[in-house]
Formats: sequence, C-alpha cells, structure tokens
Amino acid sequence: AEARVARDAKWESRNLKQQQHQYQQEQLLEQQQLQEQEQRWKSAAAVPEEPAAEEQRPEKRRKGKAARAHAVTMEARCPCGGKLPAGAVFCPSCGARCTEEKARAAKAGTQEPPTAAVPEEPAAEKQRPGKRRKGSAATPDLPSEAPKLVEAAAGPEKQKSLWLSSATGKAAERLRGSRFRWLNEQLYTITGDEAIKIFQKDPSLATAYHEGFRAQAAKWPRNPLDGVISWLKKDVHPQAVIGDFGCGEARLALELQGRKVHSFDLVKVNERVTPCNLAAVPLEADSLDVTVFCLALMGTDWPLFVTEAHRCLKPGGLCHIVE
Ligand SMILES: C[S@@+](CC[C@H](N)C(=O)[O-])C[C@H]1O[C@@H](n2cnc3c(N)ncnc32)[C@H](O)[C@@H]1O
Repeated sequence: AEARVARDAKWESRNLKQQQHQYQQEQLLEQQQLQEQEQRWKSAAAVPEEPAAEEQRPEKRRKGKAARAHAVTMEARCPCGGKLPAGAVFCPSCGARCTEEKARAAKAGTQEPPTAAVPEEPAAEKQRPGKRRKGSAATPDLPSEAPKLVEAAAGPEKQKSLWLSSATGKAAERLRGSRFRWLNEQLYTITGDEAIKIFQKDPSLATAYHEGFRAQAAKWPRNPLDGVISWLKKDVHPQAVIGDFGCGEARLALELQGRKVHSFDLVKVNERVTPCNLAAVPLEADSLDVTVFCLALMGTDWPLFVTEAHRCLKPGGLCHIVE
C-alpha cells in the first residue's frame, strides 16, 4: 500500500509538471502570436497614406454607393482620431480593431457609445473650429474631451506610448485568457477531488478562474444563469429551499435575496459560498426543494454530483440542469 501511495504521488506530481509545461507552451505561443500581431500593426502604420479619391482624379468622380464606400476606405478614421491607412484593420494609434463599418458609422455620426478602452473621436468641428457642422453649435464642448485633444496634439512619441500601453494591456488580457482556458480544461478532465487539490495548492487560481469566466460570459448573447434566476423568481415557490451546485461566485443567491439558497463550489470566494466537492455536499438528505446545476457538471465524476443532488432533494423535488 505504501508503494502504491508513493507511486500515485509520483504520478500526480509528474502530471502536474506536464500540465504546467503545457501551460507555459501555450503562453509562449500567445506571446509569439502577439508579436506577430504587433508586426502587422507596425507595418500597417508604415503604409503611406493615399490621397483622397477626389484628389487623384477629380474629373472622374465615382457616383453612388461605390464611391462612398471607396472614400471611406481611403479616409477611414478610428474613433480615437487615428487615421487608418487604406485597407488597414488595426488602428496604428490605439491598436484597436477598426473595421470600415465602424469608421463609416463614425463618419455618419452614428458611432457606438465610447468604451473605456477606445476613446470617442474628437468631433470634426473640434479639430477644425472653422468648419462647424450644422446643428452642432448648441452642443457644448465636454470637458472630458480636453485630455484627448492634448493626447492627439502630443505627437508621435505620445502616440507610440499609447500604442504600447494598448499592446501591453492586450498581452496581459491574452495571458489572463490563456490561464482561464487552461483551468477550464483542467476542470473538465479531472475529478472533483483532484480539482480541490489544484485550488488548495494555489488559491489565487480561483480568482483567475472566476474573472476569466466572467469575461467569457460577458461576450455571450445570453447567460443561461439569467434564465435560471428568472425561472426561480417566477415559477418556484418563494419558500422553496434551493441548492446551487457549482455556484461560482454565487450570483444566483445574490439575486434571490430573501430566499433560502445554499451555494456550493470548490473555493469560498465570498461569504455566500460553502466550499466543498459537489460529490459530497454538507447537507442532510431530503433537505432541498430545488437543485440547480448551471454549467457545473464539469468533473469527470459528474454523475456523482447528480447522485448527491438526488440525495439532498426532498421526494418530488426538482433538479434543474443547464449544460
Ligand atoms: C462554469 S462555472 C459556472 C458558475 C455558475 N453556476 C454560473 O453559471 O455562473 C462552474 C463552476 O462549477 C464549479 N465546480 C466544478 N466542479 C466542481 C466540484 N467537483 N465541486 C464543486 N464545484 C465544482 C467550478 O469551480 C465553477 O465555479
């Protein structure tokens, strides 16, 4: 038995080393891809700007939609104010992806609301005060525009540093994304007990996982947890005792304030979470009216999680699974 324990420990540590190696390889690959991306940005920035279509051949002005589309290609501007060389996809000033569609919307004055990462384009009249657009005189200059104008006037050095900070931010984001993907992959290929060991070894992984998950979920057209929450609010009796199996950050309990919810996950990331393995939750048998699994049947031993939910459910209780 001792020999077996020693052998298992050896296997486990070898396995972890292999996984770490795989993770490092993935990080290297990400960095390489980023460098290639930077090269592409640099070469896009180096393309000399073409003169506007009208200046090339004033006598042969194109008509209609095709002409407008062409003009956008030649004169496209990123919402940050940077000029996009013809055909460029990434803005040489801020590094943001800037499609012709976006540029066209900005040109037509229908651009999306600005985000923290991509500042709004200074309005045309602010760049050229002599040429104000109709109807814009009533709109006062926003004080928040001032730093952007200073940045724009700061010249190539400032532009370069803006580009670099944007590239560094993107690199950090990619690394965070890669760490999350590695963890996610782990959770789907190991048992609950093994997952607990990984998180015990490095508790910071839990935060990394939940941040990564939040970032991913924010991109989905619809988060299934929202559906579960509205179902519980609308169709489940307010006195029902609920068990959220694999609760993550326990948003379900947060949004069902006043209801009785037990939230279980591997790590206690906040006060609402009871840390445990879903294969053995600290609840009496027949104590829940509803059990919820929202994207939580992750471990290779997930049937044990369902068996455990069955043990905790009262006769006639509901097991709600979203996978
Ligand atoms: C993809 S997240 C979903 C979180 C939440 N249900 C939601 O929809 O926002 C799945 C969660 O299940 C947890 N989990 C996976 N296997 C587990 C296990 N064996 N024991 C406890 N929690 C587990 C993970 O830690 C993770 O937080």
